Amino acid sequence: MSTTEAESSSTSKPTSSVAASHRISVHTHIHGLGLNDEGEVDPGVNSCGLTGQVLARQACGLVVDLVAMQQLAGRALLLVGPPGTGKTALAMAMAQELGRNDSQHTPHPFCPMVASQVYSKEVKKTEVLMEHFRKAIGLRIREEKEVYEGEVTELTVEETNDPLAASGIGKTISHVILGLKTAKGTKTLKLDPTIYDSLAKESVTVGDIIYIEANSGAVKRVGRSDSFATEFDLEAEDYVPLPKGDVHKKKQVVQDVTLHDLDAANAQPQSSGSRDVMSVLASMGKPKKTEITDKLRQEINKVVNRYMDQGVAELVPGVLFIDEVHMLDMECFTYLNRALESDLSPIVVLATNRGVTPIRGAPETKSPHGIPVDLLDRLLIVPTYPYEKDEMAQILAIRASTEQLVIDDDALQHLAERGVTTSLRYAVQLLTPAHIVAETHGRSKITVADVQQVDDLFLDGKSSSQRLMLAAAATGGSLYMT
Ligand SMILES: Nc1ncnc2c1ncn2[C@@H]1O[C@H](COP(=O)(O)OP(=O)(O)O)[C@@H](O)[C@H]1O
Ligand SMILES: [Mg+2]
Repeated sequence: MSTTEAESSSTSKPTSSVAASHRISVHTHIHGLGLNDEGEVDPGVNSCGLTGQVLARQACGLVVDLVAMQQLAGRALLLVGPPGTGKTALAMAMAQELGRNDSQHTPHPFCPMVASQVYSKEVKKTEVLMEHFRKAIGLRIREEKEVYEGEVTELTVEETNDPLAASGIGKTISHVILGLKTAKGTKTLKLDPTIYDSLAKESVTVGDIIYIEANSGAVKRVGRSDSFATEFDLEAEDYVPLPKGDVHKKKQVVQDVTLHDLDAANAQPQSSGSRDVMSVLASMGKPKKTEITDKLRQEINKVVNRYMDQGVAELVPGVLFIDEVHMLDMECFTYLNRALESDLSPIVVLATNRGVTPIRGAPETKSPHGIPVDLLDRLLIVPTYPYEKDEMAQILAIRASTEQLVIDDDALQHLAERGVTTSLRYAVQLLTPAHIVAETHGRSKITVADVQQVDDLFLDGKSSSQRLMLAAAATGGSLYMT
């Protein structure tokens, strides 16, 4: 969940922690689909970390556009291709495209899951699916709020002796004096002591830009006034300009939540009876106590529908991504079929590397991709293809620079060749060990020798299975059985 203000467009916070920028995962190098305005792969535009797989990328781009235009609800896309051909990478790229939050884009939720997540001891399979479905449906709520906004010029806590304290020397806060300044004027507010907790929670100090909601007393710290900006490079602060207009004004506040956020927030024993969107929202962030029931979901749906009719809220369907979809069983597929028919359905993107294979839970029925034909019939299918050596080399080069490794060109070509005969993943995985070997030889650049050395140390999946098969043929049994 995030709160954004309609007035200020820059809402995404840069990560301030240095450590965070060094954490690298398998898809860190991917920032988007890398398409031009026409939705085509174009050498002239930033490829966002992706290489090749042109048709699949363009197809995914089209899906992103359809999501943005809200034209594809209830439909589903299936990415099929051998392991390591970028299916998950493409889904991550779509997530990045959908998550963009600026003046031209509304962020659409993207909820990734792996099919095997449905198998849990505590929760029903369909319950897990439903939860993820609702995590992929966003709601944008616009409210006009009466607020006091400005730079804090004074923050004084007035204390009085507490007449109730036994010793007679206890003190309580009688009120809080808060001075706020905007470009247009200043105002001094005398506030109820309860506001002190909210101010402390946001750690508000003099010089911060804050706003206070007039009717709820909720305090939001927007950032530090830019007149306090320093010239230090390493700063954990967001500097914001002095607000325009009066201190006391109406402000449009935009809040993005998912249906699941609302479900979870309201799955509490005490919240019963009639709900309105404000109480539904207000319960967010409180700890979850009871299970989310179907009844609760229906109630939330009703509230949501009512607020959409009133124009307060707008539905923002996103994408539910189910990786390794062949792990789902018959029951889940049937459920999926039904969920896709609902009018509150996100776009579903599935991925699998299976060909014709039995459906899980129904070993006698073989089906393409392990998906029942009736679901298959609803899907738009996008194939991904194995990479050529040049593309491998490009991906490896991107990975090397993401991991801040230096590799010489021969080594890169050698690694790409190995990638073609083994797999892309294996080649990518050799990068870091090769770098370590290079370092032990006192070099910072990875050479062919380093790559060969680590390649000798490890086996890739294909060689390992070949070795097992050879051994089995020679001994008439498996290598590891006596
Ligand atoms: N076209 C591509 N451009 C850049 N990186 C890629 C591309 N395709 C795959 N990768 C990277 O290669 C690795 C394996 O791809 P992955 O998406 O996990 O394969 P799959 O899901 O098809 O098995 C990942 O680290 C991924 O980010
Ligand atoms: Mg994958």
